[in-house]
Order: sequence, then structure tokens, then C-alpha cells
Amino acid sequence: MVHSEAIIVLDFGSQYTQLIARRVRELGVYSEIKPYYIQVDELKALRPKGIILSGGPSSVYAEKAPLPHVDIFELGCPVLGICYGLQVIAHLFDGKVGKAQHREYGRAYIRVDDSADLFRDLDTQLEVWMSHGDFLTVIPHGFKAIAHTVNAPIAAIKNAKRQIYGIQFHPEVVHTPSGREILKNFAFEICRCTADWSPEAFGETTVQELRQKIGHKKVLCALSGGVDSTVAAYLVARAIGHQLTCVFVDTGLLRQDEAAQVCDFYAQAAFDFCFVDASKRFLTKLQGIVDPEKKRKIIGEEFIRIFEEQASQIGDIDYLVQGTLYPDVIESVSVRGPSATIKSHHNVGGLPDKMGLELIEPLRELFKDEVRRVGAEIGVPPLILERHPFPGPGLAVRILGDVTAERLDILRPADKIFIEELHKHSLYHHIWQAFAVLLPVQTVGVMGDERTYENVVALRAVTSMDGMTADWAIIPNDVLAHISNRIINEIKGVNRVVYDISSKPPGTIEWE
Ligand code: XMP
Repeated sequence: MVHSEAIIVLDFGSQYTQLIARRVRELGVYSEIKPYYIQVDELKALRPKGIILSGGPSSVYAEKAPLPHVDIFELGCPVLGICYGLQVIAHLFDGKVGKAQHREYGRAYIRVDDSADLFRDLDTQLEVWMSHGDFLTVIPHGFKAIAHTVNAPIAAIKNAKRQIYGIQFHPEVVHTPSGREILKNFAFEICRCTADWSPEAFGETTVQELRQKIGHKKVLCALSGGVDSTVAAYLVARAIGHQLTCVFVDTGLLRQDEAAQVCDFYAQAAFDFCFVDASKRFLTKLQGIVDPEKKRKIIGEEFIRIFEEQASQIGDIDYLVQGTLYPDVIESVSVRGPSATIKSHHNVGGLPDKMGLELIEPLRELFKDEVRRVGAEIGVPPLILERHPFPGPGLAVRILGDVTAERLDILRPADKIFIEELHKHSLYHHIWQAFAVLLPVQTVGVMGDERTYENVVALRAVTSMDGMTADWAIIPNDVLAHISNRIINEIKGVNRVVYDISSKPPGTIEWE
């Protein structure tokens, strides 16, 4: 979709790239991330009102340092370079970048020397977040310094005539308190945007576009019971009603009572809904499989089979709806390389190719919290919108080792107790995701003077913005103690509970 107003962020591999796009969108201006090597024609076709060059881990002098095509500066729209982005500008315009004597990582203070545009209406001293060892030593031709720090005489630059700006610090992180104002000045003072974008407006436009695109054709949607696929289905249903059939598959790997709850919910929705109980099929295929990647592949394949069967029963399907989100899209273009290579995530991946279906991904431009706002706007109930994410391969990647009916019967109630207690203690909504994991080890315990040799359940709870990085959640000790007591007392076969205190990276959220 070409937006009437967009600021395009070129990604040079910074861990903050997504945050830049997000901050711009919070200002009401549509923003999208593209790889730094995007072709100039492709960039031009997006009709950007402004371009932001992200930070990145490289040094512009390094061999194979990522550099954009120099013609991006000829598109006639303002450019803002952030950190490495600033150094790219300096490099391409004959400035000089060198190693700083006193590197500034973390909090720093800049002195503003020019408040005309980028720093308009801001204090002359600003607290900022720095995260790079290289600094500008020679100002590029046609530019002037507009801010400095104690250690760096050039902390921000501009070329007013060509509307090119660069800043050494990160305005997108919360540690730069006036960062939002700086990005606001760039978007509105410099790029002349008008704030015409919001998730709510997005919902309306998308429904109209979907109606036009789909016409009278038939659409299939893989529903998981989660936020993304449900919001995608609601949007498509609003556009074309009963031309849409949604399929919900019980893989036998769902949480306790989940299949029944999800079916009850969808039974009232405004689209045709079919339920497939494939639990036996999945469990049979998984028998004896302990390798995490093998489990994921088997489950993905089986999903494909089931969808093929459903599609051929319905007949004449042209489109497949998926709830793919923006972070999934970005991961595949980031210069850091896709995290999908760490584990094979699946969203019924591979289906469209195999079945000759065209994909509809109405949410591919949104972040999860934006999806929640769109969902609220179009009437998806909070019950679904506030659910924690749940992976396609389900409990199979939370039962380490062999996935059996017996082991599922141990994990399910443990998970249920954990989630129940988080709700009771008003913690559920502060946590991105929480779940129990069944470990493939047994430990010695003592219960009523008897020796036990039973299973270990690990509890995992994380806070996160988008699932790409995460911190382990701090849960009060008394709550953890209570959860542990309940699990050990109520579930036969568990004599030990542990709490996972790894962040992502280096851990991932799921254990497999
Ligand atoms: P990891 O474990 O990679 O997970 O840190 C990040 C987020 O993605 C979810 N996840 C999946 N979601 N299909 C999905 O739809 C998958 O195969 C899959 N694997 C992990 C995970 O629960 C977390 O929210």
C-alpha cells in the first residue's frame, strides 16, 4: 500500500530500528522500515515525505560497511541520519569519522547550537542516549554543526539547503527525554507531514481495500484463537462476510480447555467457521520425536495437509488470510539476519505456495499493540485482544523431549494454575507471555516421608514490546511460592518447580 504520507526508515542493523518506525507512527505519521540497500526507484515509488537512516553496529570505514545508494539524497525529501546514519551522511558528503578518545555510551548531554528546526522549542542543554564509539571529526561539505557535547564538537549537523540532518544520539529511546520532540520537529517542521495515520483510520481503509480486492471470490483463514489471526479475520469478514471461511485446528497441543473456549467464541462471529479435531493425527506424527526443529517441521507439514483437505472440501478458494505482523516482515529484511533461522516459526507457512493461493496479510504493516487497537475499534472483545501470544506448535515446544498424552496431562494443569494465579494477582496484563514448560528430567524429592522421583516444571514469564527482545518478569516471591505449592500439591508427577531468569537474547522466549 502506498501511503499518502510516509517516513521511510532505512535499516542499517540497529537494535533500535523498529523503535524509530514506532515512534514516528506514534506521532500519527505512517512509517515503514526498508533495508538500507533498497533500490532508489523502489524507494521513490513509496513517495516518502522523509527518510531516516537508522543506527547500526558497523563503522563506515569497515570493509563492506553498509552504505545506501547515494541517489537517495536526490529524491527531494528531507533525510535524518541517526548515529551510524549520521556517519553515513558524513562519509558520503566528504566529512570525516574517527574513533572518539572518550567514547560516549549511555547517558550524555548535548548543547544545542541552532534551534531553528530540528531542535525547535527545546532547551539548550538536552539529556540524550549515545551508543557508538565513532564520532564526526570533520564536518561534511555544505553542512554546519547544530549541537555539541563535552567530548564531541559535532553531535548534530544540518545542511539546510538540501534538508539533510544528522544526530549522533538516539532520539527513539526513552533515555532521550526530548527524543519525541526531535522526531516531531523532523516529521512536522521539516518533512511537513500532517499526522493523517492512526490504527483506527487504518481499519476503515483496510476494509474498503479488501472489499475491492476480493470482489466475489472465496477466502480461507487459518484461525488460531490468538490476537493476530482473529483481528485479520474480523477485518476480512467486515469486508466480505460469508465469502470467508475460517478454520480452527485442534492440534491436541493446545492449553487446557482452549479448543472449547475458542470454538464458543468463534461460533458467534460473523464468518463461516469450521473446527477440525486433528489431535490424534498430530500426536501420532510426533511419537518418539525429541528434536525441536523436527517437531516444528512435522507440525507445520501436518497443518498444510489439513488446510489442503479443508480447501478442497470448500472448493474454489482464491485467497488465504494470515495474521502476519510487522516484526515478522522486518525480521526478514533486517541486515542482522532473520531470527527465523534460530527456530522455524510457523504461521501455516508454506501453504499459499503449495495450494496456489494468493496471500492476504492485512496486518503486515502493524505492531502488536497497534493490532490490538485496530481489533478494539472493529469490535474484537478484550478476552481475545488481551491474550498472551501462543506459538503455532503449541505445547509440543514446551514439552522438552517426547510429546505424549501423559506428559500433556502433566503440563496442561501446571500451565493453567500459573495463568490462573497471575490473573488472581493482577499480573497477567503486565506480562507479555507466561507459561509452564515440562523438562525431560526427573529429580528426587520427599513427600510425606516418602522418597519421590518425579518431573520438573519450569515457569517462564517475560515482559517485552514485540517478542523480539524480552526480560524475565519479576513476580513477587509469595506469588511464586503459592504457584509452586499448588503445582506440586495438585499435579501428580511433579515434585519440583523452577523459575526461568533468562532474558532474550541470549535465551529465546520459548524453550524450543
Ligand atoms: P521465541 O521463542 O523465538 O519467540 O523467542 C518469540 C515469540 O514468538 C512466539 N513463537 C511462535 N509463534 N509460531 C508462532 O505463531 C511459531 O512457530 C512460534 N514460535 C515461537 C513465541 O511464543 C513468542 O511470543
